[in-house]
Amino acid sequence: MNQEIGTITVRGGVVLRASPAREPCFRVVEDQADMAKFPEGSFEHRREMLHGDVNEEVQSLEIAAQSLVDFPDAPWDIRLQLARQCWDEVRHARAFLSRLRELGGYKGEFPIINQEWGVVCMFDSLVGRLAVQNRLFEGGSLDVFKEGVGTWTRWGDPVTAEIMDAVVADEVQHVRFANEWFERLRKENPRALLKAIAAMDSVRASAAPLTPPEMKMEHDIPVNIEDRRGAGFAI
Ligand SMILES: [Fe+2]
Ligand SMILES: [Fe+2]
Repeated sequence: MNQEIGTITVRGGVVLRASPAREPCFRVVEDQADMAKFPEGSFEHRREMLHGDVNEEVQSLEIAAQSLVDFPDAPWDIRLQLARQCWDEVRHARAFLSRLRELGGYKGEFPIINQEWGVVCMFDSLVGRLAVQNRLFEGGSLDVFKEGVGTWTRWGDPVTAEIMDAVVADEVQHVRFANEWFERLRKENPRALLKAIAAMDSVRASAAPLTPPEMKMEHDIPVNIEDRRGAGFAI
């Protein structure tokens, strides 16, 4: 991978890869402080969450697809997993978008931010990208979506809760294939894992400057132990 990539510098001086293209109906922001923040549980908030989920899934698709382009010499089974992931992420984006529309929302109703793409696609190694995207971010999504199942159920919306549940099942596999590859590397080529560790360290360091105080989570998300175990985490 040696092509020139466009970058942006955002809050706290963090350098990110410039956003992928979006349809003109979307307002793409670079600072989390410019995202909408409606009162939790309000109908606007629910649509805003689904709207954000659509864009998250599209970013997951774009990250996996860009890795296929950037790392043509990666092991065949990993490329196959990435291609399968692309298909899963498309289905997730479609499921969230159609649910958003059923609830009266539409594309471009709220601002969007492409920070995951921006962070992950700065790394010039596939182990770095998989460590951050699949292991760290999608690993985190196992907790977030699992909590989402309970939250949407509590809001009296079992249809959206069921979509969340189906998405978690696919995400487990996205985390697992990365974890399995790292386990293999640990035995066969431990030096390659140094890039993965460095990538995760640098993301942890940039997380705080990227998140303005008003956008910090107001509660700790419970750890989804069962799915994390299924995804190959030793917990
Ligand atoms: Fe997904
Ligand atoms: Fe995923």
